[in-house]
Amino acid sequence: MIRSLLAVGALVCGIGAVLAQSDPIATRKATMKKVGEANAEVTKINKGEAPFDLVKVQAALTAMQGAAKAMPALFPDNSKTGGDTAALPKVWETKADFDARWEKLGKEAAVAAAAIKDEATFKVAYADMGKNCGGCHESYRKKQQ
Ligand code: HEC
Repeated sequence: MIRSLLAVGALVCGIGAVLAQSDPIATRKATMKKVGEANAEVTKINKGEAPFDLVKVQAALTAMQGAAKAMPALFPDNSKTGGDTAALPKVWETKADFDARWEKLGKEAAVAAAAIKDEATFKVAYADMGKNCGGCHESYRKKQQ
């Protein structure tokens, strides 16, 4: 029983890895889309357009940490074009800087997640988070119409 459960687990993980490899563009876009949606909710809270919601804030920070871990591997050399990607060639030209930005986002999201307990701590800990998003998009993503 245990052995077959392990086998199923290995299979499921294997499929995930194969999917990421076979369609890294779709996977990275879907990953970013999730982060974007979660962050949009938190931006509303930050602007005072929605009430503070610790669950939403923590969910967004979790999504950012997940993306920070997953994203660097989703830009293999054969995914520079196609699949309606908005990634600029610079991603592959300065991949070390690109990857370092993910690491920074992951670290800052983890620090914020630990610090945020209520609205007051949110205001302080979340203030600069968005700069990670905009800063990277500025250099590495095609301008959106
Ligand atoms: C280290 C660089 C980097 C960071 C940090 C980053 N992004 Fe992105 N993001 C990208 C790149 C590159 C793309 C384009 C991916 C593609 O089209 O292949 C993208 C695409 C997106 C998209 C469009 C997804 C779609 O539907 O195609 C959204 C939304 C987004 N990012 C939101 C965010 C938010 C919110 C943050 C901050 C919490 C963030 N990103 C942080 C590099 C980054």
